[in-house]
Amino acid sequence: MSPTVTLTLNPAFRIAPVRRRTFGAFVEHLGRCVYTGIHEPGHPTADEHGFRGDVLELTRELGVSSVRYPGGNFVSGFKWEDGIGPARDRPARHDLAWHSTEPNTVGLDEFMDWARKAEVEPMYAVNLGTRGVEEALDVLQYANAPQGIALSDERAANGHPEPHGIRMWCLGNEMDGPWQTGHKTAEEYARIATEAARAMRQEDPDLELIACGSSSSQMPTFGAWEATVLTEAYEFVDMISAHAYYAEKDDDQASFLASADDMDYFIDSVVATADHVRAKLKAVKRIMISFDEWNVWYQHRAESRPPSGDDWPVAPVLLEDTYTAMDAVVFGNLLISLLRHSDRVASASLAQLVNVIAPIMTEPGGGAWKQTTFHPFALTSRHAKGEVLDVRLDSPRFANERFGDSASGDAVATWDEESGALTLFLANRDAAQTLQLDADLASFGELELLEALTLHHEDPYAANTKDAPDTVAPQANDTVRLEDGVLRGELPAISWSIVRLGRRA
Ligand code: AHR
Repeated sequence: MSPTVTLTLNPAFRIAPVRRRTFGAFVEHLGRCVYTGIHEPGHPTADEHGFRGDVLELTRELGVSSVRYPGGNFVSGFKWEDGIGPARDRPARHDLAWHSTEPNTVGLDEFMDWARKAEVEPMYAVNLGTRGVEEALDVLQYANAPQGIALSDERAANGHPEPHGIRMWCLGNEMDGPWQTGHKTAEEYARIATEAARAMRQEDPDLELIACGSSSSQMPTFGAWEATVLTEAYEFVDMISAHAYYAEKDDDQASFLASADDMDYFIDSVVATADHVRAKLKAVKRIMISFDEWNVWYQHRAESRPPSGDDWPVAPVLLEDTYTAMDAVVFGNLLISLLRHSDRVASASLAQLVNVIAPIMTEPGGGAWKQTTFHPFALTSRHAKGEVLDVRLDSPRFANERFGDSASGDAVATWDEESGALTLFLANRDAAQTLQLDADLASFGELELLEALTLHHEDPYAANTKDAPDTVAPQANDTVRLEDGVLRGELPAISWSIVRLGRRA
């Protein structure tokens, strides 16, 4: 008999309301994310602006709330003004981050046109690598100022008389990373971020500004970086960023399956650091987290290496990871971690949206298809509603190199009191055994089971491809049943599940 994971949950165990911004994504000028990803003039589904209709449709189906743009490492060498005005006048430039040629065919105005069509909120990153306060102010005025000053009149002349109204602004990207163009020490970054934020607030006090945090919890400066940056910038920023990528390394499947433990640790540590600075400064407001890059990413594989030498291609094939069933389970579990931290994670961005470590893949001139990771994202975004509830777990544990041991089961729930929708998101991270689910739901009143879906494949390395796009997809889990207010069922080894219940009429 397989072991049981017992869930204790109650409508009173509220963490925070579900935030739509948890379901953000990221579009960077990297590889084929923009060119032949969202934008491909001449494609059979392209609209008058050259945006692929099939990708727009899949973006909406994915349930993406906001999109970070234009980078990423790319932004730290980017001149935003190269991407505005008549297309024929735009310069091509070398992008040092990805050793590519950037044609600047798509820029801020095109991205905003795309964002409106995709029904997503934009999040814009300014370049604090090779540039500074002046350029940050310029792009802000170009984007958001009403007509009547030089830069907003230029935007109007470029076909956008109304301000774009971008609320969320990232103050640079991964400035703690030695790979970043214009990399800075924490003190140097704290200075420039504070000055840029102060000036941007003078232009518009209502912006939501995000300071760069750490590029991973493994950075040597992790913790100290956040403390230094926030000590100086606290008054002027609303959020601090966190970035994390996970992969199975050295055949250590168990540690990979426990990746969400690192995300929990990362968030808890940044919250503790931010609150420590708050106490030091006797500040009232709390700094929130923008987890604006997260995903599974196999960085050691060849496809992640940029070209080199004299070859500076336009939109090369880069970071086109193929995701497996196991990757999707880890990915779904990362979403569980983000959701259960909704009290402090105010925004998150899956990196990235199309072709580049992405849930959506395209073929130039051809079709678009869903990777395995598409499914947990779309289902969580669609069904997480109301309040996020803390779920207490009594779970067996499994040993792993990275964390010592980890709970085999993981879960979070959302409860929409008005509609009576209770949704459970569950992961069985144990590679060796099925878990028996046991959850007493009596405190929610009379419920009925609406749907139980499980993403699992007997081969954890099975993947979706262009020719077999439905190899890994959630299936109905017929073992799940609700009897006398108790939910029971089987969660197979290495699986992610969603169980939807509704108030009985
Ligand atoms: O998402 C890919 C890259 O990962 C981004 O450009 C960078 O910010 C991070 O290191």
